[in-house]
Amino acid sequence: MHGLQPADSAEAMAAAAAALRSGQLVVFPTETVYGLGAHALDEQAVRRIFAAKRRPADNPLIVHVPDVDAARKLAASWPAEAERLAAAFWPGPLTLVLPRTPHVPDATTGGLDSVALRVPSHPVAQRLLREAGVPLAAPSANRSGRPSPTRAEDAFADLGEDVALVLDAGPTTVGVESTVVSLLGPTPVLLRPGGVSRERLEAVVGPLAEAAADDARRSPGMRYRHYAPRARLRLASASRLADIVQEEHASGAKVAVVASTESGQHGPHVRVPGSRADGDAWARALFALLRDLDAAGYDAIVVEEILEKGVGAAVLNRLRKAAEP
Ligand code: TXA
Ligand code: MG
Repeated sequence: MHGLQPADSAEAMAAAAAALRSGQLVVFPTETVYGLGAHALDEQAVRRIFAAKRRPADNPLIVHVPDVDAARKLAASWPAEAERLAAAFWPGPLTLVLPRTPHVPDATTGGLDSVALRVPSHPVAQRLLREAGVPLAAPSANRSGRPSPTRAEDAFADLGEDVALVLDAGPTTVGVESTVVSLLGPTPVLLRPGGVSRERLEAVVGPLAEAAADDARRSPGMRYRHYAPRARLRLASASRLADIVQEEHASGAKVAVVASTESGQHGPHVRVPGSRADGDAWARALFALLRDLDAAGYDAIVVEEILEKGVGAAVLNRLRKAAEP
């Protein structure tokens, strides 16, 4: 069995679990984005992820497990903050960075002595983890540098040739990747904004430290160009949006606009994910929109800067990276 398979088929799930146990790659849905999964404790299997994605080997992977007990087995220590955050947000879009145990190979952690752990809530991810019976390393199932896949067909387009199979469970519900929090130091550090907002995390563990410049070493993924469509992406404040759209038109570019309900923008080249205060709606729509606008052949995509609150902070983080030259 191979190619794109419905995740509600028992045969497809059994084939996926068997492929993973034997060291092959499988694309599976999570609540955030589709993941490119491999047996996290099998060095050879993990190397296949880096080869398929063309990902730099020093960019470590997130290890997915079915529950807190399985996570604790891979962590060398389990501080009180891990206990509180896991109780509040697992299963769900939160990744915790902790000291690793020796079972976790260097290939998975990029040689770091820490491991990133996550318990996904998607029922298919849960079923697959239990059926495979092994932890799964899984980065987003896009080719490095491309927008993360929120639909099985996007993952299939990027990686279909390189995997045993792609489990299709329809569009993901969160739409941006998990929030990554480091628990290696005395204060939790926000390494990557994501599906669980800073506000919700701070309600549980108090103020999070900012990822300092030298934390880029500790979350190496932050260094690399990410999420970018082929079209030129420009981020515009609400007040400058119309001007920047005009400027792009004047240069002769074929221009698409992604704007909030409040912007008043409309027409065949405008997409409106929701209110500028509705970060959740923007997160759900963002990556698929960027892929669709690329496929439609636009030269430039002008995106309105939404409010930096809730999951909107993760949306802005991804847009800023995509807009980097
Ligand atoms: O929502 C998600 O997190 C998705 C789904 C598939 O679960 N996965 C995902 O993985 O986004 P990936 O590989 O695209 O991003 C992993 C992030 C990177 O920024 C990486 O640098 C960071 O987690 N990371 C992994 N291990 C780390 C470690 N030991 N220390 C610090 N950062 C780490
Ligand atoms: Mg990624």
